Amino acid sequence: MAEEILRITGGHKLRGDITVQGAKNSALPLMAASMLCEGKTVLHNIPQLTDVYAASRILNRLGFRCTISDHTAEITSGDGDTEIPDEDMRAMRSSVMFLGPMLGRRKRCVITMPGGCELGPRPIDLHLEAMRQMGVQIREQQGKIVCQAERLHGARIPLPFPSVGATENVIMAAALAEGETVLTNAAREPEIADLAGFLNRCGAKIAGAGEGTVVISGVRKLTGTEYRVMPDRIAAFTWLCACAAAGGTVCICGTEPDDMESCLSVLTAAGCRLGICRDRIYLDCGHPLRNVRYIRTMPHPGFPTDAQALISAVLCTASGTGMIEETVFESRFKHVGELLRMGADIRVSGRTAVISGVPKLHGAEVEAMDLRGGAALAAAAAGAEGETILRGLRHIDRGYDHFADTFNSLGGTAVRSVISSAVR
Ligand code: UD1
Repeated sequence: MAEEILRITGGHKLRGDITVQGAKNSALPLMAASMLCEGKTVLHNIPQLTDVYAASRILNRLGFRCTISDHTAEITSGDGDTEIPDEDMRAMRSSVMFLGPMLGRRKRCVITMPGGCELGPRPIDLHLEAMRQMGVQIREQQGKIVCQAERLHGARIPLPFPSVGATENVIMAAALAEGETVLTNAAREPEIADLAGFLNRCGAKIAGAGEGTVVISGVRKLTGTEYRVMPDRIAAFTWLCACAAAGGTVCICGTEPDDMESCLSVLTAAGCRLGICRDRIYLDCGHPLRNVRYIRTMPHPGFPTDAQALISAVLCTASGTGMIEETVFESRFKHVGELLRMGADIRVSGRTAVISGVPKLHGAEVEAMDLRGGAALAAAAAGAEGETILRGLRHIDRGYDHFADTFNSLGGTAVRSVISSAVR
């Protein structure tokens, strides 16, 4: 069987500037939210990702017309099925975000459990409970979850945990529900404000998105509009981390630095020099870096779980010892085993990783086990001695638009090629 790999030759300092891609975690909910709109929605700055194509496929299966050309998605309202096939639910774990808009628009949605995934179990109890409180009846039938409502009404919904996806689903369902919904302990990630910004432009009445309490006053109808997807803060952080690991000077353009405060302050604490000018972030890294005593992943505005693997890769060669605690997902240290193959010294115990800096990493054969873990291995490889062979590229393709091209435009040396798996 043939398999695609990335060969990364380490030891080249990174230099240059790039414009960051549109945010995956905003593009996906915006595509789902366009289901709520009558007429045509045009989304600009859509990143070219397999997850985006999976979302497009779901929209088309559900009777909407979605076309993606270059970095623009056009979605036109339509009638059709209310069931998301199991293969689509599995292709993209976050397909559960179609639940809220389907219920808002068609009052019915049949899904299957997204199931366990590379980050550990990904339950959807918070989503379902919130929908129940808005009048949705939910039953399980032959492994499918059938959600149906005669009428969707506003409700007071306190979320037990500020889940990003559950917050987005409530906002989308409530936008067309009868009456007012007050969501408390809502997630405050910037992508939620982007979603509300889009929906408000379509005619919705949403206040407080991006804060802990969101108030949604249902309206009768939303109309499609044109909207630009916000920049991807995790992709921006990825390129900063690649430079921090390899050394060099880069500028990431088109960012929202205010959304990245917790990430940037960790890089500063590690000894990188950072400069910010409007939407540009400059990073200058002359080694060696120093470890950061304690980093804890938290919901926004805390240090993002999506940035955890990336900063781990940087800190592998930082002097001294640091500790990282993962509080958001159960199983998010799968990249550590691969970093060990590259010569890192990391000990994981439960949800904590202790990193003791080593002078250098060396190239090795490693495998991406999840999206950000894969990008972290590439960042580590950029700073390692010799060649790294990175497998599992399908994970990276879910979230990075032309990863190797971007990396190489900063002076990295990554070659994507097809090999026979028998070589393994
Ligand atoms: C989103 C992001 C993902 C990011 C995560 C946390 C998208 C497409 N994905 O994922 O990149 O890592 O936020 O910032 O935006 N949970 C439950 N029950 C639920 C829902 C969630 O127990 O019903 C738990 C999850 O298992 C996890 C935690 O809550 O441990 C956070 O999940 P959540 O914020 O919902 O993440 P996602 O929306 O799936």
